Amino acid sequence: MINVLGICGSPRKGNSHYLLEKSLGAASQVAPDQVSTELYPLKGKKFAPCISCFKCGNQRGECIIQDDFQGLRDKWLEADAIIYSVPVYHMGIPAQLKAFLDRLGNSLFGRYAELFPGEAKLPRSLKVIASIAQGAHLFSGQEHTITDLINHALIMGCVPVTGDMWEAYIGAGAWTYNEVDRHVLEKKEKDGSLCTRVALHGAESIGRRTVELAMILKAGGLANSTRFQKDPVYTPFLERIRESPG
Ligand SMILES: Cc1cc2nc3c(=O)[nH]c(=O)nc-3n(C[C@H](O)[C@H](O)[C@H](O)COP(=O)(O)O)c2cc1C
Repeated sequence: MINVLGICGSPRKGNSHYLLEKSLGAASQVAPDQVSTELYPLKGKKFAPCISCFKCGNQRGECIIQDDFQGLRDKWLEADAIIYSVPVYHMGIPAQLKAFLDRLGNSLFGRYAELFPGEAKLPRSLKVIASIAQGAHLFSGQEHTITDLINHALIMGCVPVTGDMWEAYIGAGAWTYNEVDRHVLEKKEKDGSLCTRVALHGAESIGRRTVELAMILKAGGLANSTRFQKDPVYTPFLERIRESPG
């Protein structure tokens, strides 16, 4: 089974949610009996910012702030692939998602400290990570926002992926024609808008490629597990793919 976690970075059920549903739908169609998808909305959740206490470094990676972080962290760790769908805020990712990513990145050093004694190191998680970003305007931060998420993927030892040419160079992007309504993209799709069609194609091809690459990584990891299991950087990856080898 390939577990795909879709994280909607908007505080409302709107345009990001809509694109993510389309992307996850395409992801499950790659192999309906081998793919499970979950859409996790940030709407209604609380993610306090990191307070830089560094207690997670010596508490086996436990963050001292208890909120929705722990639940999403566990889902993130279990997933084989993650698709982020976010609104552009101030030309970047929304603060709620940034707070989650900051705490995730730092707390994993503590969580995996036993694998790397004496070193601050993260494992090669080898999750596939893809990104969709949409904003109210054109050229208003979609690529910056996706680049933030690609950087997150890289520092977490994951594998960023995009959709197909030409709709999705580094991820899927959309704009809402200067409107701030939650359902703009849904309406524009019904109106046959070219930009929205392009965004939907991008979101769907991202879904498919995410699953295909996760399958390839899983098969490669299982086929070569004897070689890789000697290096602790692969331990979390191998444990994850062995738990659901199908
Ligand atoms: C705090 C805030 C900052 C925003 N900054 C940008 C921006 O920099 N660029 C942009 O194109 N849209 C910006 N927007 C507009 C949203 O990205 C846009 O309305 C988007 O469609 C919302 O997505 P949602 O329906 O998934 O919530 C901003 C909106 C808010 C609330």
